[in-house]
Amino acid sequence: MTASQQCPHTAPSVLDDEFLQDPYVHYARMRENDPTRRVKTVTGMPVWLVTRYADAKAALTDQRLRKDYREIRRVMDNKAAEEGAEHPDIGDAVQAHMLNMDPPDHTRLRKLVVKAFTARRVEALRPRVEEITRELLDDMAARAAEGETEIDLLDAFAFPLPIRVICELLGVPEDRRDDFRTWSNNVVSGKDPRAAEHAAAAMAEYLLELIETKRTHPGEDLLTGLIESSEDSDRLQGNELVAMVFLLLVAGHETTVNLIGNGTLALLDSPDQHEKLRTEPERAAKVVEEALRFDGPVNLATLRFTSEPVTVGEVEIPEGELVLVSLASANRDEDRFPDAQRFDQDRATGGHLAFGHGIHFCVGAPLARLEGEIALRQLSERFPNMTLAVPREELRYRFSTLMRGLERLPVTPA
Ligand code: HEM
Repeated sequence: MTASQQCPHTAPSVLDDEFLQDPYVHYARMRENDPTRRVKTVTGMPVWLVTRYADAKAALTDQRLRKDYREIRRVMDNKAAEEGAEHPDIGDAVQAHMLNMDPPDHTRLRKLVVKAFTARRVEALRPRVEEITRELLDDMAARAAEGETEIDLLDAFAFPLPIRVICELLGVPEDRRDDFRTWSNNVVSGKDPRAAEHAAAAMAEYLLELIETKRTHPGEDLLTGLIESSEDSDRLQGNELVAMVFLLLVAGHETTVNLIGNGTLALLDSPDQHEKLRTEPERAAKVVEEALRFDGPVNLATLRFTSEPVTVGEVEIPEGELVLVSLASANRDEDRFPDAQRFDQDRATGGHLAFGHGIHFCVGAPLARLEGEIALRQLSERFPNMTLAVPREELRYRFSTLMRGLERLPVTPA
């Protein structure tokens, strides 16, 4: 099947705000009628969207789908010239990280941090994550006791928790966290190329300062370890140190916050599921896995491009095309997860793609799982009768082509 044979009425053609507010209805139609098709981003960039589970999984391990950011930039420049599309030129400073590389560079960079995120190392962080969680919930309880009936759960809890944890792990202060949140959102949202360029430049400057301070004040932390690696040029070259810190901080900002937000909303939407967690708090880890499958923080995996023609399902994608694999759609594929549109913490969630698949599988998954489990468990223990503080239909998702997370989640803690 070629692009011209596809029916334009069965699926959206632009990844715009309307699409992103409720992508699941569109994905269901696409999986049925048009599982791999060409669409445009809001800046007019043509991309191929992959929506079925089996195709998504195959694409994520296909070595012909590459990620090197220099090559992707070339492909985007060509598309921009051909189709009048726009894309940001965010420079190399924050781009030279493992998620934007293919082997062997990817392998070399990943090795440097993977040890810090093993299940055993992460489990050792449990008491500290529990303590931070308690402190944040204490603050929320104090506000409720003073009579506040509407607290934004994202602002008060879901955002500060992961950022505090990743800053402690890296050994960096969190004093600029609000700036960093704005910058990182501008870089990843995919809406405004100029805002992305400015934010990337500001972030690179901030990260260089951070690294300089740490060079003169070394500690026992991950950043000190990375700086030591950067002194051995076989291990970290050029911008790779700055980009690595960027990647770890952005991953800490943009994802776990939405796991907590989307997971909490799923529970508020399904009182029976919330009740199960309340009566058996040790279910929290299962709830997290289902939250990842049902409404994970990453809608679309990061851009890949075809280094030669690649057949995905029944569609041949030509060489030199951009490809977005929909993790959110794959995780709602009824062929893989029966009754997939229902949140059910007792289902078998094994094989969900919320953390990706293949060589770029999320390095931080054990940490994200730990934080999610502790957050949802303590939240339901502390505020068992929490309710939404606004009508459900007022909730909106932030504009981001790749990520999925609410703008605000106003709750009444009780
Ligand atoms: C990669 C999801 C939290 C660090 C990825 C990928 C996904 C993902 C889908 C692969 C993207 C692709 O293939 O295009 C998530 C989710 C999280 C989360 C859903 C929270 C619930 C974290 C945290 C960290 C982290 C807390 C570390 C601080 C990374 C890194 C990569 C990555 C370094 C790149 C791995 C590579 O290229 O080999 N993540 N992530 N993530 N994630 Fe996460």
